[in-house]
Amino acid sequence: MKTDICIIGGGPGGYVAAIRAAQRGFSVSLVEEGALGGTCLNWGCIPTKALYSATKLLTQVEEAAMIGLSFAKPDIDLAKLAAWKSTVVATLVGGIETLLKKNGVTLIRARGQLAEPGKVSLSTGETVEAQTIVLATGSEPVEIPPFPFSDPAIWSSDDALEIQEIPERLAIIGGGVIGLELATIYRRLGSKVLVIELLPEILSTLDLDRRTVSTLKRSLKEQGIETLTHVAAQSFDTSENGVRLNLAAGEPRDVDRIVVAVGRRPRSRDLGLENCGIEVDTRGFVVVDDALRTTAPDVYAIGDLIAGPMLAHKASEDGIFVVESLAGHEHRLNYTTIPQAIFTNPEIASVGLSEAAAKDEGIDVLVGRFPFAALGKALGMREPDGFFQVVADAATHRVVGVQIIGADASDLISEAAVVVQNDLALEAIADAVHPHPTLPEGLKEAAENALGRAIHTVNR
Ligand code: NAI
Repeated sequence: MKTDICIIGGGPGGYVAAIRAAQRGFSVSLVEEGALGGTCLNWGCIPTKALYSATKLLTQVEEAAMIGLSFAKPDIDLAKLAAWKSTVVATLVGGIETLLKKNGVTLIRARGQLAEPGKVSLSTGETVEAQTIVLATGSEPVEIPPFPFSDPAIWSSDDALEIQEIPERLAIIGGGVIGLELATIYRRLGSKVLVIELLPEILSTLDLDRRTVSTLKRSLKEQGIETLTHVAAQSFDTSENGVRLNLAAGEPRDVDRIVVAVGRRPRSRDLGLENCGIEVDTRGFVVVDDALRTTAPDVYAIGDLIAGPMLAHKASEDGIFVVESLAGHEHRLNYTTIPQAIFTNPEIASVGLSEAAAKDEGIDVLVGRFPFAALGKALGMREPDGFFQVVADAATHRVVGVQIIGADASDLISEAAVVVQNDLALEAIADAVHPHPTLPEGLKEAAENALGRAIHTVNR
C-alpha cells in the first residue's frame, strides 16, 4: 500500500495529525493496534474526568446538610459506575472512528514498525510505503522493580481506573499529577489515602508557585489525604492483614493496595527505530529538531514520544504543527504557552511562567492576585478556596503567566491561554467586561490588582 503520510499511533497526537493531514489533501494511513484515542481517552484524561465528576457529586451530597439539604448516605454501585465511565470512553472512541472515516483517513488495525526510511511493516505481514512517517506511539507507566504491576497488591494507574474495588487503605507512590488525581478520586470514594513522594515537595516536576502548592497541600490535609514527602518507598510484604509498605524513613505503613504513579516513559522500544538510525536520548525519548524531525529523513515524532510536557493537547498541537509544516503553512510551536490542568480538589491550572520562573528569566514582574473567596459565584457554589494569579512584565504589562487554583480552574485557564499565546497585556483582561456573577471575574480582578486598580480586593 502507498500513501503520502503514514502515522503510527492513534492517540491524541496521531489521530489529530491524521485528520488534519486529510483536510490538507494528503492521503493518510493511521496504524493503530489497540483502541483509538490512546492513553488519554482510554486510560487517562477521560476516565479520570468521568470519575472525578461522579465522585465530586458524592462529596457535594455529603456536605449538603450544611446548607439545609439532607440526603441519605449514598450507595456506591462500583460496577455501574465503571460501566458508565466505559460508556463515556466508548462514545468518544466511536466518534474518532467516524471522524477518521468521514475525513478519508485509512485506518489500519495492526501493529506498525519502521522497516526502513519510507516503509512501515505491519503485524499483518503487509508493508505501507509512505513519503512521510509520523511516530506517535505515546508513553506507558514507569514500573519500579520492588513494586511490580504483576502483583495483585500493586496497581498501575490503568488498574486504579478500573475501579473494581475501593480499598479501605490506599497508598499511592508518587505525588505527581496522576498520583494526586487518583488520591482525590479514591478519597472521595471513601479510601484512607496516603501519598508518598520521593522529592521534598509534591508536584515538583511542574512550574507551580509555592503559594499554589501550599494551598493544595492545606486542602489535601483537610480532605484527609496524608502526604509524606522526601520519603522513598522501599518494598512491601503481603499478609492476611493486607500489605505492609516499608519506607526508607519512619514506620512501615499497613495498607490494602498500592498504586505506583512515578511517571511515564516514552513507548520507543520495538518501533524499529534502529532500522532507520533514529536516535533516542538516555530516557528513551526520540530525539527531534525544532521541526520535530527525527534523525532519519522524512520521519517525524510527536507527543509523549519526544521530550516536553506529556499532555494530550500538546501531542495534538505537535501533530498539527508537523502536518501544517508539510503542507507549507506556517504554524508556531511554543511549549511555554501550553496550558495544563490538574484535577485535584481544588483544581489547578496554569499557562506560561510562574512568578519564580519569570524572575529567573530576568523579567521584572508585576503580580496580581484575587481570591475565590471574594467571588459571589464561588461562595454560592460553596467553593471559596483558592486564588487567581497573573504575572506580567512590569515594563510592558505583557502577561507572561497565569496560575489558578480553585473551582473550575481547568475551564478558567483558557481565557488566560489566549492572552499568553497572543502576547497580550494586563489591560486586555482588565478592560474587558466580564459578566457578573461568574468565576472569570476573578481573572479580571487579578489583572486589575496587578495594575493597582482592583475593586473587590485591597490593592498593594
Ligand atoms: P509525574 O512526573 O507528574 O509525577 C511522578 C512523581 O513521582 C514525581 O513527583 C516523582 O518525584 C515521584 N517519584 C518518582 N519515583 C518515586 C519513588 N520511587 N517513590 C516516590 N515517589 C517517586 O508523573 P505522573 O504523575 O506519573 O504522570 C505522568 C505524566 O502524565 C506527567 O508528565 C503528567 O504531567 C502527565 N499527566 C498529566 C495530567 C494532567 O495534565 N491532568 C493527568 C495525568 C498525567
